[in-house]
Amino acid sequence: MKVIGLISGTSMDGIDAALTEIKGQPPEIRIKLLDYLVHPYPSGLKERIREAASPTRSRVNQICHLNFYLGHLFTEAALSLIQKSGVKPTEIKLIGSHGQTIYHLPQPIGEPGKFGRIEIRSSLQIGEGAVIAEKTGITTITNFRARDLAAGGVGAPLLPYLHYLLFRNQQSNRVVINIGGISNLTFIPSLKNSPPSMASGSVEPPARRGGNRGEGVKLLSPPPQPAPLKGEGNIVNSRQERRPPRNFRNWADSVIAFDTGPGNLVIDGLIRKISRGKHEFDQDGQFARKGRLNRRLLDYLLSHEFISQAPPKAAERNTFGEDYLKNIRKIAKNKSISAPDLVRTATVCIAESITLNCRRFIFPLGRPETAIICGGGANNLFLLECLSQSLSGIRVTTTQEFGLDPKIVEAAGFALLAYETWHQRPGNLPRVTGAGKPVILGCIYPGN
Ligand SMILES: Nc1ncnc2c1ncn2[C@@H]1O[C@H](COP(=O)(O)OP(=O)(O)O)[C@@H](O)[C@H]1O
Ligand SMILES: [Mg+2]
Repeated sequence: MKVIGLISGTSMDGIDAALTEIKGQPPEIRIKLLDYLVHPYPSGLKERIREAASPTRSRVNQICHLNFYLGHLFTEAALSLIQKSGVKPTEIKLIGSHGQTIYHLPQPIGEPGKFGRIEIRSSLQIGEGAVIAEKTGITTITNFRARDLAAGGVGAPLLPYLHYLLFRNQQSNRVVINIGGISNLTFIPSLKNSPPSMASGSVEPPARRGGNRGEGVKLLSPPPQPAPLKGEGNIVNSRQERRPPRNFRNWADSVIAFDTGPGNLVIDGLIRKISRGKHEFDQDGQFARKGRLNRRLLDYLLSHEFISQAPPKAAERNTFGEDYLKNIRKIAKNKSISAPDLVRTATVCIAESITLNCRRFIFPLGRPETAIICGGGANNLFLLECLSQSLSGIRVTTTQEFGLDPKIVEAAGFALLAYETWHQRPGNLPRVTGAGKPVILGCIYPGN
């Protein structure tokens, strides 16, 4: 089945659109990436969305308007991709659109109810699905997080389902590291390391401890030979194992995922300021590479309480947002730290904070042989080098090795979730989100 996935994440760098061919059913899912593109937001829109997402500056008429406007932009992204790929629109069965997160309130807020107190968790993604379905004529599924929230989860992260289906390995533990605006990881133990007892392991699901947000993560030495990582051209095949797992749910339930700390948001924010708005990000990490590491600043950055906090945890845009950036820039100014040194140190901090989280919360459960990197940060070559260095002994690769461009993994993930919903199968991992049970995600807007 041909399915398009759409998302704009916390970086708000534009709409990632993936055209996929999906076959099979869990745990034997095949995803082939046929084509993709990034549809940039028009200039000035990022700031309007930031304003709409700000509790102090937002106006309800603005959100109302942007919901429909973004519906049109997501439509443009889908139509541009269809045109680029040369596939007929009628061949596309589904669009799965995450939309743009405006706000996420995963901490329960109590309200009185007729039958007792109600614990409310909520989330708002905009980019109206009715517009996408109407303008493309293709059945569109949106609002993926709501059902998980309704089932007592925190509605995030949802991508670990894709990570598990595509990247699990019977013999070796793996960690998938997504470096978007914020960084997060998904730990997928090997089958032998995922007995049902892990369901009562040391990391509690978010619902019990109160998670905190939304979406929108090598080889031992001496190395035991890892199971080969095979990509079939650009086919990503979840059938990497000879035998299907004996118990799909038990294994899936042993997956752990959480945010580790800062991601591209910090580098992007610094580069925007340093270049006075000329550049949006540090292309391939070239600017960071020119600088020198400031060890004292690094230690300070790594002392941010979120980084060493035990999971479950989820950062918000604001956790590493404007105030965080202002503070770093102030310190850099006071200590006369040069711009390249500052960006290098911030980049090293991303790698080190991921490694710190692995050491504390993942390695005690099992040492991964391979770290598979995805998200736009995987294109920052300097950041990748930093990660390889700090995760020493673990083989660092990107999802490209599996035939999936790292930048487009999230979009492919929402194509997969739409496919699962269409087949009336759940797409959340309750142990990851804290939901009471697996649930079928999303709202379906029929096409023509
Ligand atoms: N070639 C590149 N070099 C360095 N950074 C890059 C490159 N390509 C993308 N990025 C980074 O990736 C970010 C977007 O990543 P993405 O996964 O879309 O994040 P999000 O999900 O938060 O939107 C950009 O803001 C930029 O910082
Ligand atoms: Mg993005």
